[in-house]
Amino acid sequence: MSRIGVESAFEVLVRARELERQGKDVIHLEIGEPDFPTPAHIIEAAKRALDEGYTHYGPTQGLPELRESVARYISSTRDIRVGPEHVSIVPGGKPIIFFPMLALIEPGDEVIYPDPGFPIYASMIRFSGGVPVPIPLVEERGFSFDLDLLRKRLSPKTKMLVLNSPQNPTGGMIPAEDIRAIAELVRDRDLMVLSDEIYSRIYYGEAPVSIASLPGMLEKTIILDGFSKTYAMTGWRMGYGVMPEWLVDAVNKLMVNSNSCTATFTQRAGIAALEGPQQPVDAMVAEFRRRRDSFCAGLNQVPGFRCALPGGAFYAFANITGTGVGSKELADYLLYDAGVSCLNGGAFGEFGEGYIRFSYANSYENLMLAVERIKAAVASRLPVGTR
Ligand SMILES: Cc1ncc(COP(=O)(O)O)c(C=O)c1O
Repeated sequence: MSRIGVESAFEVLVRARELERQGKDVIHLEIGEPDFPTPAHIIEAAKRALDEGYTHYGPTQGLPELRESVARYISSTRDIRVGPEHVSIVPGGKPIIFFPMLALIEPGDEVIYPDPGFPIYASMIRFSGGVPVPIPLVEERGFSFDLDLLRKRLSPKTKMLVLNSPQNPTGGMIPAEDIRAIAELVRDRDLMVLSDEIYSRIYYGEAPVSIASLPGMLEKTIILDGFSKTYAMTGWRMGYGVMPEWLVDAVNKLMVNSNSCTATFTQRAGIAALEGPQQPVDAMVAEFRRRRDSFCAGLNQVPGFRCALPGGAFYAFANITGTGVGSKELADYLLYDAGVSCLNGGAFGEFGEGYIRFSYANSYENLMLAVERIKAAVASRLPVGTR
């Protein structure tokens, strides 16, 4: 247990809620979930499924009809050919980090992952007995990897490479040419790529490219995706992995030992999500874009802040080194003094130090109010001598 970590977004949310209980007004820019309701036709499908009796155990790997839908969806969006036998339905995207890492990583195996990155990667690498090998993301490269460094860090002990694009916490994307270069580097190595594509539908320019679509990479890639972010279904706990069949067998064993199966009525709603109208997703992404543009412009006016325009997800990752204050100290100050709940970049790895993550999954009005509060707090009340 000493090796396993936590996720700061959930911890800060608890602290922010406690402040609210004490009567303080807090704008929540900490937690990473769309603030939109789950589209109505998906909710209707879940209700119908309950009425139809989808209230019992289902197959461990997931309902065959949902696995068919996922296979069709992934094949068409990633330009690959996969079938339902390659799909594992699990309760959320996270189990596709947890199970494959438990299954694949032996003590001493090295796992390369992005830093700053989703904290669960480093936590699960350590928990599995692996050696975490962070690769810094470079702000000037739109928070993509330094490819030379990646080349140097690959070793015969590297058993897994974690990619995440669009990325949490930076909102960065790995450009297509970098994905091609990474595939060249790993194609002939004895390792698996965990490609975390949970934000695959939330992007504002070029569409993200899945490394699975490159020659020779499908059999080496685990695609993680799910319903949480795309369809605003974080609380439903439903996600999936697409991977070679030998690894599906391992995930099945871990699933049957832990969850038995994912809830069946939610899986029926998952089919409605993938096969029904996609207009709510497009509308959500359009609104995220509007907020992103104005919020980042606002942050760039805060003295000491610099915020690159993120290419995807719904996070702004502001460089705050110009304030002269550490990112944890500043995040605490913004929460307790300005009523803006945000995350210390250092909670996403050592290379996140000097940054603050803001989730813009909050209303346009609240985001503009947050900018005003941050500006006022930073301008007037930072401890003298720290700037
Ligand atoms: C990069 C990344 N991967 C995976 C997940 C997990 O998603 P889920 O809520 O479906 O487990 C998240 C959630 O924040 C995430 O940011």
